[in-house]
Amino acid sequence: MVAPRVYQAMTQPLVGHLDPFFFQTAEEVRTLLGYVFSTANTFNMAVSGTGTSGMEAAIANFVEPGTKVALLTNGFFADRIGEMARRHGGTVVRLARDWGTPYDYDEVREFIRRERPQVVGFVQAETSTGMFNQAKPICDAAGEVDALVIADCVTSLGGMPVLVDENGIDIAYSCSQKGLGCPPGLAPITVGARALERRKQRKTPVDCFYVDLELLDAYYTGRKYHHTASATMLYALREGLAIVAEEGLEARWERHRKNHEAFVAGVEALGMKMLVPEGHRLWTLNTPCLPAGVDDARVRGYLLEKYSMETAGGFGPLAGKILRIGTMGYSSTAENVALILEALKDALAKAS
Ligand SMILES: Cc1ncc(COP(=O)(O)O)c(C=O)c1O
Repeated sequence: MVAPRVYQAMTQPLVGHLDPFFFQTAEEVRTLLGYVFSTANTFNMAVSGTGTSGMEAAIANFVEPGTKVALLTNGFFADRIGEMARRHGGTVVRLARDWGTPYDYDEVREFIRRERPQVVGFVQAETSTGMFNQAKPICDAAGEVDALVIADCVTSLGGMPVLVDENGIDIAYSCSQKGLGCPPGLAPITVGARALERRKQRKTPVDCFYVDLELLDAYYTGRKYHHTASATMLYALREGLAIVAEEGLEARWERHRKNHEAFVAGVEALGMKMLVPEGHRLWTLNTPCLPAGVDDARVRGYLLEKYSMETAGGFGPLAGKILRIGTMGYSSTAENVALILEALKDALAKAS
């Protein structure tokens, strides 16, 4: 759900995409993103487009023909990184785990040492499974072979510790519509100094004009027109980020953790098991397994019709096996958890 203050911010009069107030807002977003990503990086911006545009920006700028990309995958979105890297000319090598299975970080280190890639890609918060993957051991292993690390933080930013600097992530991207409580439409991204230096050594120009980070930086710092970015979305994001800063990151993480844990306790009391082992679960997106014989579409249809509650199902190898229920951003409240548990109890009784 979108925070009411964000809706309010979006009603502010529109200014042009080259107006001084637009650039002032972009500058505030840059500073606030540093806080929310927990980084001293100054190269922070919101790419126009959804989370996928952040992924495209990360890949297009740091992968060129011949770049070796080591992909760690245990879910759907990691494989999308691989697909994009191939399209931008990269050579992708994969270390794959079953969807929803944690990595063995010794194996990750061995894989990275053996492959010696220039770039390592992984998804910190895998929305297809509800799994949190640890950034630190991945970044440490990548550091040993001087590889850049790209982290997908689409479902962690604003809800769980992303900790760009502490983990050593070189490039992290996210979206506006999840932990930040805004509508979809912008993709926050942060890039560290090492990555910017590496980018200068590219042999070929970035093959996608729209997400060329150098052109975007020149635009957002008021030096050169690039595209007509939406001031309305920038107002929304600035408000969403200001709300995070007012609450405080630690307090916000704690809120997400508590509400997630209350949700888990509640579904377990209903006899459901969580897909992801304890200690590896997202606090933003919960994936309880459906009891045998219960039809996923019936449960979700009932929740939507009777309670106006939108939930997601599993897909790929998890189709029909799990529910995916968000407790993120503005929606992560004790009241919402109580409501969904009540509704789930009713829906499961009807569906079995
Ligand atoms: C982990 C992850 N990465 C990337 C994306 C793509 O983001 P979007 O749908 O906003 O383009 C999503 C979308 O849910 C996601 O969950």
